[in-house]
Amino acid sequence: MKKLLFICFLILGAPQLVLSQSLESPDGNFEMKFSLNEKGKPFYQLSYKNEPVIKPSALGFDLKEGEDLIDGFAIIDTTTSSYDNTWKPVWGEEKEIRNHYNELAVTLNQEETGRKMLIRFRLFNDGLGFRYEFPQQDSLGHFVIEDEKTEFAMTGDHTAWWIPGDYDTQEYDYTESKLSEIRGLMEKSITGNLSQTSFSPTGVQTSLMMKTDDGIYINLHEAALKEYSTMHLNLDDKNMVFEAWLTPDVNGDKVFMIAPSVTPWRTIMVSDDARDILASKMTYNLNDPSKIEDTSWIKPMKYVGVWWEMITGKSTWAYTDEFEAVKLGETNYEAAKPNGTHGATTENVKKYIDFAAENGFDGVLVEGWNIGWEDWFGHSKEYVFDFVTPYPDFDVEEIQKYAESKGVEMIMHHETSSSVRNYERHLDTAYQFMKKYGYDAVKSGYVGDILPKGQNHYNQWMVNHYLYALKKAADYHIMVNAHEAVRPTGLARTWPNLIANESARGTEYQSFGGSKPNHVTVLPFTRLLGGPMDYTPGIFEMDLSKLNPDNESHVNSTIANQLALYVTMYSPLQMAADLPENYMRFPDAFQFIKDVPVEWDKSIYLEAEPGDYITVARKEKNSDDWFVGNVNGKRTRTSKISFDFLDPDKVYLATVYADAKDADYKTNPQAYTIKKYRVTNKSKLSQASVEGGGYAISIIAADKKEVKNLPKL
Ligand code: NOJ
Ligand code: CA
Repeated sequence: MKKLLFICFLILGAPQLVLSQSLESPDGNFEMKFSLNEKGKPFYQLSYKNEPVIKPSALGFDLKEGEDLIDGFAIIDTTTSSYDNTWKPVWGEEKEIRNHYNELAVTLNQEETGRKMLIRFRLFNDGLGFRYEFPQQDSLGHFVIEDEKTEFAMTGDHTAWWIPGDYDTQEYDYTESKLSEIRGLMEKSITGNLSQTSFSPTGVQTSLMMKTDDGIYINLHEAALKEYSTMHLNLDDKNMVFEAWLTPDVNGDKVFMIAPSVTPWRTIMVSDDARDILASKMTYNLNDPSKIEDTSWIKPMKYVGVWWEMITGKSTWAYTDEFEAVKLGETNYEAAKPNGTHGATTENVKKYIDFAAENGFDGVLVEGWNIGWEDWFGHSKEYVFDFVTPYPDFDVEEIQKYAESKGVEMIMHHETSSSVRNYERHLDTAYQFMKKYGYDAVKSGYVGDILPKGQNHYNQWMVNHYLYALKKAADYHIMVNAHEAVRPTGLARTWPNLIANESARGTEYQSFGGSKPNHVTVLPFTRLLGGPMDYTPGIFEMDLSKLNPDNESHVNSTIANQLALYVTMYSPLQMAADLPENYMRFPDAFQFIKDVPVEWDKSIYLEAEPGDYITVARKEKNSDDWFVGNVNGKRTRTSKISFDFLDPDKVYLATVYADAKDADYKTNPQAYTIKKYRVTNKSKLSQASVEGGGYAISIIAADKKEVKNLPKL
């Protein structure tokens, strides 16, 4: 390790870095340099294949009280180490994950105050992670971070795929632009949401994906966000320097710290091949191993639900139209006239259970089952839901018995309506209710402004809440899929019962005016790096006026694109979101959704370019079968792949679900072809996908006889 550490004196332009220590990645492609300037201010910089990717960038904090942790530091200790280990995730894209890095830990002493701050750098073959640590010490106990001053100084005016910085929502379409264009495009990029707080004309969220003019891909994010507030990035667009911008509380305080403590990791992934960013497991590797010992109760699931019909406005969460306001415990539901559009009726739920059982789905989600939906947001109402009282037409016991008899799991829904204190008050009874009726998974949600007032979706108080709800769920052996929660940062390694999050613009927006046709070619480069998304794919009817005459939205995607999402958007929790009757209209395409698994042993990214296209092959867990997905964003493009990932000793039956030649995501989204081929590891495919289109392939190991009459690929 000694060779990784050397000390030299640098006289650069600005800043003047006087002392520098260096760390290399295991493969030697990266070099990170840590320095102090003449004022004792810390800096880091990063190069990849001998070219700078992060110019000298400052490190440190403004504190609310006392001397800032910005300069006046001296190095009192440095240690280096190497780590190389392999771990097995409970679920994931891979059976095994290698965690391999070189580490440099620098302990700084602020000479005037005697305060100690350690900065730990881990350099992987896919990028850099670093965090600040505050050891127990006499001169630093409680302190309030006013601003984190970590910088990420870019080397140029890169292309970025960004969403507006916001303390309350991530449900935005991505904008592709030069960094210098962010300011001019910001206003247009801020589309409506029920809770949103933007903060700067050049503020963006992480994970932020970029590409340099030289074809280097750079991704900025964070890992292991715990007991801290969410990091955004604010761009100084004169100098192309991003500054960390933490999410404050109502008083402007960013983080309450108590030493000993650590910050989340700041991550910088870099590669000259976009596929490496998608395959990177750095975010997970920077999180702690699972704290759940017996994980046998954590199970990936494919599910359907009483959901899309409400999202499209075909039916309602609410049971009655009679109440202007609802007071739980006082409003008399038994006497109310049902509105006739309530989705979560026992009868309707049974239909979904039958559909799930007949088509091999594991679970059924039901929303709008509990009283309160007539008056659930918009009034800063605290006691909105009790999470245990069903509507009169939802027979929880009968539904449970019926589901059990059909071998189907029910999935609970807890819309907190962001009344977080109310949710915490009810959490134990809510989880106990679930266990009593056999529900092992919950979809939670945080629509609207957070209560207590002054908190927001991504500040420290809420980050603590999400983890509290998740840990308590683990105590009850409950899996969590939280919507509108903070975007994931790899915490599912530590708490694998976090089987998905929404925390981005999901399919629901296709019903609220539509999303950009290339949205799904960006998400795997950004949102998915921190953990799986409950994107809820599988929409077959794109003209939503067919479901609800008042809904003018159009789903900007072809059917083949929807199928591909089950492979390209990795998640151990996958929904088939459309209504059963729409699947029954296209049984041959639906077959792919029935066949595609949610558990994998191996993933190979075959083609990738952010905003443009992604093609991935995945091998089913404990099986010889493979599945391929291609999503295509911008224009008709021919994807060219080789099947050399297949076992050379086997033959396979490949079924290719693709856009028909005349498919068009706007005018002809349901035009697809299904072709069957005999394939081996020598096979190759050239397949065209239209804008907003794609293709999906199931590759099933077969008997030679079975496939002998099929055309060879
Ligand atoms: C927003 C969620 O994303 C959506 O899935 C859910 O149906 C609604 N909130 C109601 O809880
Ligand atoms: Ca949402």
